[in-house]
Amino acid sequence: MKYNFLGNTGLVVSELCFGTMTFGGKGYWEAIGKIQQKEVNDLMKVVVESGINFIDTANVYSFGESEKLLGQSIKDNGFNRNDLVIATKVRGRMGEGLNNVGLSRYHIFQSVDESLQRLQLDHIDILYVHGVDPKTPVEEIMRSLNDIVLTGKVRYIAICNWPAWMVMKGMGIAEKNGWNKFVGMQYFYSLAGRDIEREILPLAADQNLAMMPWSPLAGGFLGGKYSRNAAKAEGSRRDSFDFPPINKEKTYDIIDVISEVAKQHNASVAEIALAWVRQQKGVTSTIIGAKSIDQLHANIKSVDVILSADDLQKIDEVSALPKEYPGWMVERQSGDRVLNK
Ligand SMILES: NC(=O)c1ccc[n+]([C@@H]2O[C@H](COP(=O)([O-])OP(=O)(O)OC[C@H]3O[C@@H](n4cnc5c(N)ncnc54)[C@H](OP(=O)(O)O)[C@@H]3O)[C@@H](O)[C@H]2O)c1
Repeated sequence: MKYNFLGNTGLVVSELCFGTMTFGGKGYWEAIGKIQQKEVNDLMKVVVESGINFIDTANVYSFGESEKLLGQSIKDNGFNRNDLVIATKVRGRMGEGLNNVGLSRYHIFQSVDESLQRLQLDHIDILYVHGVDPKTPVEEIMRSLNDIVLTGKVRYIAICNWPAWMVMKGMGIAEKNGWNKFVGMQYFYSLAGRDIEREILPLAADQNLAMMPWSPLAGGFLGGKYSRNAAKAEGSRRDSFDFPPINKEKTYDIIDVISEVAKQHNASVAEIALAWVRQQKGVTSTIIGAKSIDQLHANIKSVDVILSADDLQKIDEVSALPKEYPGWMVERQSGDRVLNK
């Protein structure tokens, strides 16, 4: 396992982060995974023994169950909490109360207290904003995030799923007021969804923000079970929970190419898909998901796969995004600023 600094901070995280969205299985989350305490403890043991020190959960995963199971597994396994970097999130609805949702100062403070109770911890290392709240002003959000850091309950703040302009608006407001700024970003990034290459990854590079890709296997579609001839895979998440949205026809072409690359590396399709994400410029820590110990072992093994320049080119040709404005104009106009061609 290799380690990276998290963006512009002195915090060190493993190149893989373990995602706990498969823990719990309460309500809506049942289709994603329903792993209970005994297996959670076993998975976490493998995670920590592999050298992964970075764990991702969210208040909303199984409506708090994922945080509870994770917190208990730290106790049950006797892990040193200070060897782990624990991230959770705030934004989603956590109950029926009018204010039990969103990014108001009210809910951010309430949610952090409730997450800490469920996790049985006294601080969260990284608090992610889980998405857009169209009703709370960005200024209120940034001030509340700064203030929650000042309470000592949260060490760093980070962002998921906001459009680039909104992230920069938040960063600008924080900068102007001397508040804590986002240190990292968590976005959907996989061979089946390279959208963040347009605006988000350039933003991350410009601001030196860490990038933690989520759903690197596109929710399991790149796990090796799906292909043009196998549109369904019994018992797999994507059969009943078809998310995130992807262009399936294009993804079948991608699967054809990475299946060939996988054979040459004596590796699985999933390992190649994960290696590709890990090797992309700007990626700090890829968030892996697993429903079983076998999947977890396979995903950890992907760090040993090093794709060659030739592999990367073949994969890029089949998966690249179509040109889009203003990207093609930026590329065209950058040509006359290159020296020593
Ligand atoms: N910030 C956000 O908005 C956001 C959104 C989504 C996720 N996340 C985070 O990202 C983490 C990872 O997301 P994800 O679970 O969607 O990741 P993913 O890697 O795209 O999908 C994981 C699923 O793929 C299948 N799989 C995993 N390893 C496999 C292997 N080696 N071979 C074959 N199939 C395999 C399993 O489902 P099946 O066996 O059922 O196919 C597994 O549950 C989550 O736990 C969460 O922490 C964040």
